[in-house]
Amino acid sequence: MDPFNLEGKHVAITGASSGFGHHFAGVLAAAGARVSLGARRTDKIQARVDDINADGGRAFGASLDVTRSASIDAFFEAAEAALGPVNVLINNAGIEAGAKTFMMIDEDDWDSVIDTNLKSAWLMSKKFTERVVANELGSGNIINVSSITDTRTIKGQFPYAVSKGGLTRMTEVLALEAPRYGVRVNALAPGYILTDVSRILLESDQSPEFMKGIPLRRYGEFDDLDGPILLLASDASKYMNGSVVVVDGGHICASL
Ligand SMILES: NC(=O)c1ccc[n+]([C@@H]2O[C@H](COP(=O)([O-])OP(=O)(O)OC[C@H]3O[C@@H](n4cnc5c(N)ncnc54)[C@H](OP(=O)(O)O)[C@@H]3O)[C@@H](O)[C@H]2O)c1
Repeated sequence: MDPFNLEGKHVAITGASSGFGHHFAGVLAAAGARVSLGARRTDKIQARVDDINADGGRAFGASLDVTRSASIDAFFEAAEAALGPVNVLINNAGIEAGAKTFMMIDEDDWDSVIDTNLKSAWLMSKKFTERVVANELGSGNIINVSSITDTRTIKGQFPYAVSKGGLTRMTEVLALEAPRYGVRVNALAPGYILTDVSRILLESDQSPEFMKGIPLRRYGEFDDLDGPILLLASDASKYMNGSVVVVDGGHICASL
């Protein structure tokens, strides 16, 4: 018996059109999961779905705007119609405001970052849990993709770091409240990996100096997250609830 095997599990991933979500879909499908991919750029979603299915996996994709309640309902309905009830939800969709301080952002920045990174995780989790109960699954599993900025950050990550602090705290509160519905909740807190979310900082002049603060002396790669996401998505983590799995090369051990 391989505790990391995902045969029989249907995993829904938000923000799967690029970056981590796009990568996770392939990793989880290769471990046997049925995967449903959601995001707003449906051309990218469909291309990833086609790749996974061509490789022998079982993938489905649909439009999803995690800030819109009706879009979330439509996504879950389509995913369940295609691949059956969802067992695992990965709240991965996220944006940043673009290297701004609290004095530089405006209300639109605040609303879009907080709605996409934080409010969405509550909405998705609530609707997922309702479906776990309605489908009489008996168990469900939520993974929130937080960040080490939940605890340690640098200037110019406002309100992104605020949203991630909230998301980690939400993970802990959900871990207290969700088990009565059979649902456990954990967070993955990656360090810095080059994607559109981190590009401004990692491709800036500050980047070489910033990297010196990481004890392993490099930024992360997508495959550094493979073991941790398989752990959290599978029954290998069946007694984990309210955990925040940090994957950062030791970055938060150092002074950022
Ligand atoms: N890269 C890092 O260093 C790092 C470190 C720690 C944590 N994270 C977190 O990892 C997660 C994934 O980010 P990433 O780094 O992989 O960046 P990314 O490539 O920009 O991916 C972000 C994803 O979120 C989706 N998204 C944005 N707004 C959405 C909305 N309203 N509805 C649905 N999907 C939406 C985007 O898809 P569409 O635009 O197609 O909708 C995209 O697929 C984020 O939560 C981020 O905060 C990243």
